[in-house]
Amino acid sequence: MNTKLFSELPTSVRIMEVGPRDGLQNETMALDADQRVGLIRALAAAGVKNIEVGSFVSPKWVPQMADTDTVVSKTGDIDANLSVLVPNPRGMEQALVAEVKEIAVFTATSEAFCLKNTNCSVDESLERIKVVTEQALAAGMRVRGYVSTVLDCPYDGPMDAQRCADISKQLIDMGCYEVSLGDTIGKGTPIRMAHLLETVMKQVPASQLAVHCHDTYGQALANILVSLQMGISVVDSSVGGLGGCPYAKGASGNVATEDVVFMLTEMGIETGIDLSALNAIARDMSVLLDKPLPGHVHKA
Ligand code: HMG
Ligand code: MG
Repeated sequence: MNTKLFSELPTSVRIMEVGPRDGLQNETMALDADQRVGLIRALAAAGVKNIEVGSFVSPKWVPQMADTDTVVSKTGDIDANLSVLVPNPRGMEQALVAEVKEIAVFTATSEAFCLKNTNCSVDESLERIKVVTEQALAAGMRVRGYVSTVLDCPYDGPMDAQRCADISKQLIDMGCYEVSLGDTIGKGTPIRMAHLLETVMKQVPASQLAVHCHDTYGQALANILVSLQMGISVVDSSVGGLGGCPYAKGASGNVATEDVVFMLTEMGIETGIDLSALNAIARDMSVLLDKPLPGHVHKA
């Protein structure tokens, strides 16, 4: 084996489970708050330590994420870092009332996607994020940032890596502890991912970056592997491969958590997650949603 190829791999990886948010936001069948709480509890019991539990976005835009306040209030006792997506000051008001400990803010490299997703330009979204982040930090919350469409936009095509780097750096400067780079439509391939990371890492260290790969073109694990080789040690994923983005036509689910955990475990990289418990959750979700889910390992 050419060990040099793998000498940079981390010994452990932090998984950010986004199924209850990114996954369920794009399912036709909306789960009620108790069903979502059941999923979050099962994930935590499987050893998942970081879970995005919902969004304080407009329920007219994303009805699947309605009642996120109830989900938060019913999961307060869970021993895991739970976070909620917040798009604007209105969402931040809800986060303050719910007393969440962590929020996630989001913008994009692409103007067209940002407009479709949040009804504003990238600059306007960064202004909103600045206000929201200041409030969150003042309230003692942690703030995670997302940049979407880092490689390709469904409307504007391939994206400029330098622009993604500049936006990521702005999020870090505002106080985000980490920026997750979203390949929203999953069209990226490993060499492009490596080039993107190389560019972004000139402005933001690998220790403050995560990758968020949708698996639309089946490239997610390859892109994750190259990211790990470049020093990234935080990976977003969604149990069963649930999900997508309602404002990115054709975007299918995130890479399945069980597929990532299987690959990492087999390579000797720790995640702290019980793979058989994760597989059982994916199978239960498949029954609940009455459809096969795209993840591989839970079906193997
Ligand atoms: P807007 O229509 O421009 O907002 O939406 P507005 O300020 O003009 O308000 C319009 C109405 O919405 C008002 O109500 C507001 O009160 C209400 P009305 O007077 O008509 O009854 N409103 C809200 N209600 C609840 N919560 C709020 C809120 N804000 C306003 N926070 C907004 C702007 C951002 C709210 C809207 O565009 C929205 O909710 N977008 C949804 C975005 C979303 O959730 N997208 C999916 C998540 S991002 C993603 O999946 C990508 C990611 O996974 C990374 C990747 O894969 O790349 C993170
Ligand atoms: Mg996503």
